[in-house]
Amino acid sequence: MAASVISLACVEIQGTLDKLTLHETVRPHAQRLPQKKTVALSVPSQSDVDVQSLVKQLTLQEKVSLLAGDGLWHTAAVKRLGIPRIKVTDGPNGARGELFTSGTKAACFPAAVSIAATWDTGLAKRIGRAMAEETKTKGASVLTATTRLGPTVCPHRSPLGGRNFESFSEDPLLAGLQAASVIQGLQENGIAATIKHFAANEQETMRNAIDVVVSERALREIYLKPFEIAIKQAKPLALMTSYNLVNGVHADQNTHLVKEILHEQWGYDGLVMSDYGGTNSLEDTIKTGVDLEMPGPPRHRTLAAVEKALASGSLDMASIDDRVRSVLQLVKNVGKFEHPDEIPETAVNHPDHQRLIREAGADGIVLLKNKGGILPLQTSSLSSIAVLGQSKTCFSNGGGSANLNAHYKITPYEALQKAVGETTELRYAIGAQIYRKLPCWTSGVTDHNGQPGWTMLEYDVKDKNVPLSDDMQPQRVYAFPQTTYMAIEHISDAVRLEGTFTPASSGAHYFSLPAFGHAKLFIDGELAYDAGPSPDPRAFSEGGPFEEKKQHHFVQGKSYQLRVEVLAPKPEQAAIPMMAGRIMFHLGFMAQEDYEEDVVTSAVEAAKRADVALVFVGNSAEWETEGHDAANMSLPAFGSQDRLIEAVAAVNPRTVVINCSGVPVAMPWIDSVAGLLQCWYQGQEAGNAIVDVLLGAVSPSGRLPVSFPRSVEDTPSYGNFPGDLATGTVNYAEGIKVGYRHYDKHPDKVLFPFGAGLSYTSFEFGPAVITPRELVHGGFITVRLQVKNVGAVAGKEVVQVYLAPLPTEARGADRPERPIKVLAGFSKVAVAPQSAVSAAVEFSFESAAFWDEKADCWAVDCGEYAVLVGNSSVNHTKVGTIVVNESFTYGP
Ligand code: BGC
Repeated sequence: MAASVISLACVEIQGTLDKLTLHETVRPHAQRLPQKKTVALSVPSQSDVDVQSLVKQLTLQEKVSLLAGDGLWHTAAVKRLGIPRIKVTDGPNGARGELFTSGTKAACFPAAVSIAATWDTGLAKRIGRAMAEETKTKGASVLTATTRLGPTVCPHRSPLGGRNFESFSEDPLLAGLQAASVIQGLQENGIAATIKHFAANEQETMRNAIDVVVSERALREIYLKPFEIAIKQAKPLALMTSYNLVNGVHADQNTHLVKEILHEQWGYDGLVMSDYGGTNSLEDTIKTGVDLEMPGPPRHRTLAAVEKALASGSLDMASIDDRVRSVLQLVKNVGKFEHPDEIPETAVNHPDHQRLIREAGADGIVLLKNKGGILPLQTSSLSSIAVLGQSKTCFSNGGGSANLNAHYKITPYEALQKAVGETTELRYAIGAQIYRKLPCWTSGVTDHNGQPGWTMLEYDVKDKNVPLSDDMQPQRVYAFPQTTYMAIEHISDAVRLEGTFTPASSGAHYFSLPAFGHAKLFIDGELAYDAGPSPDPRAFSEGGPFEEKKQHHFVQGKSYQLRVEVLAPKPEQAAIPMMAGRIMFHLGFMAQEDYEEDVVTSAVEAAKRADVALVFVGNSAEWETEGHDAANMSLPAFGSQDRLIEAVAAVNPRTVVINCSGVPVAMPWIDSVAGLLQCWYQGQEAGNAIVDVLLGAVSPSGRLPVSFPRSVEDTPSYGNFPGDLATGTVNYAEGIKVGYRHYDKHPDKVLFPFGAGLSYTSFEFGPAVITPRELVHGGFITVRLQVKNVGAVAGKEVVQVYLAPLPTEARGADRPERPIKVLAGFSKVAVAPQSAVSAAVEFSFESAAFWDEKADCWAVDCGEYAVLVGNSSVNHTKVGTIVVNESFTYGP
């Protein structure tokens, strides 16, 4: 199959398109001007509750209770006045419900970066709609009731960002429009969205304390822009502030960000909540406009503190009333007054959602290399496929708030086996170990009842200096999940895990026991390991130091009594107050022969004899996760996956790499492999979505939402990420040169450019018609053209329209430097083979604007602007020009 080629014809005349058209595809993508200041669900609340009069009836104590969460996932109720509580739930790729790891099963959707890679706003909206339905199964009444903590829209600044996968793109327009679509899908179906994290939250390192030093121009053009677009277009009912500081002030008390820009300039009147544990004061945060401190019990908004502040005059009742009004307005907006009851969480494994997740997953996959048309695989002519690497793992999501208990997860191996049946032999070998923590210790362990798993006992100990007592009662029998155990959901003073271990082999086997709390492992009553007190949950959950690996000699077939004891940190010891009394630990194990095995050799042997070698690699959720930035761009762990690819490619020229990560990774092997698919995190259907593309059931149509640099040294933030940790400062010194705004000036530094992606078919773009030709304040431009599929299979193409201002020399030496071009709009079209459709891309005058720091407002310079149309940020043609006859400014 041919890779996607594009030929662009350009005309500079206006006219009507001739009617080759099969379907008219018109997608107005432009940013609209600020408009109505109210936000409303499409199913508006019928309640006649008068929020203002309720505020008047509340006592001070009741008002204060409404200003902070009631526990982790609720606002407070005021029964006396019939004010119900609202439930909120994470997160970025689905509705998790109340428990982080082992909660009610939920649909796991593709990550935001994968949704962005579809470049399909209609699909993003359908995902929002399905997420709304899911959210309702996690405790909402029929109309509305739950607030979803997402989407995340912060731009990808560095490929090392641990939470990039949760967010859409390096480009503010693509991120803003995709986020707006998800929000519309959610809110039109009765679920409030919470856009986050406002603002400049592009790293996890020191996330609570890092001070982001950023110019006003970069803030406005890059970091605030996705928020501005999504807020103005989709009006999310809630917004979450970020943990970090911006230019010296924490986001939650940053008057410039929250009061001036968000509320006054953009007219936002939805609810503003803090990130969890992210309030840094009482008075400033309330006055700035943060309505809700999350979670509860509050750190700052206690009755005593509020009374003291009111008495001293540092806080006034009017500010408190404003915040309370906003909370009540959200309760009203989501229809809670009419439907106050909270339905228990349920797991609804909806076939429509399964289909949508598979479709969206496949549509986000980006084909980056296809030498000799190796893909799609023609299985009828293949007698064997080596299926190597992480093919028996489903990389459904990244870690942290994105965790949820998926209904199911399809691995690529399973999906491939099902698709090829008996006809093609699959030769599996893991080839590389990628664990960050040793796998959970499950194998060979039986509980008190002789069943596989552990017996877990929980106990309240009043004095935590006293050793665990012997009369602990089993609270539940606990089968370790495959992933890290987090006992965050409930408060236990102590946890004990007991089991009988019968090793399958003799050896100095490896184990590990990182914890938040004080953990010890006893083997046959003897203390085998004391991890020591660990009061900082970040050391456990946010990447932190690598776990300490220990060895113990076990004899095959002998039974050992194992006991793990973990004491919760004392409240005064917990580095994050909301974590006091909560325990987290992980018990890892690996047999010595497995840990030390040379796994590459068997993979190479499998590859040598196979017709094709598929190598599945990626960043597991342990590596790409909230709370942890990557140290470098290399695939984990410590080079193991790069070694595998290189060794396999050396023996089989028909090697295809399938990479799952939310960020670009280093690809030292790129010239030696024949094919490469970038697969992000596709949710519970990841295996099926990948196999649909591998075997050609779906022609790849994903396009990169982020530039893939050759190395981390080539990235614009290099040297300034994650910043100076001694001073706690990160300098966004690259200004607006983020992503392709930088690489356009350094094309040699990018391996795969923004917007790129191949197809199994080929497209040709017809002549473009641009109307009108003059851009004025408040105006819109439409670019129309035909997209023809000249290949043999159906496919989808993304028409990308970029706007290029005149170079600085031509605009005047006193004018600020501009990027070579910016994405102005896009449209994705599906085209049958040997057919054509017309596409229309609309963009607004705002695409021509830059933030003028001297005038402190947006500015559009007069002159000509080139309109570039193509299918990537480097493969495009100038199809015409538009003109701005008179310079103008607007805003802020
Ligand atoms: C994250 C938020 C998340 C919240 C609740 C915080 O640590 O930053 O994005 O919604 O936890 O889980």
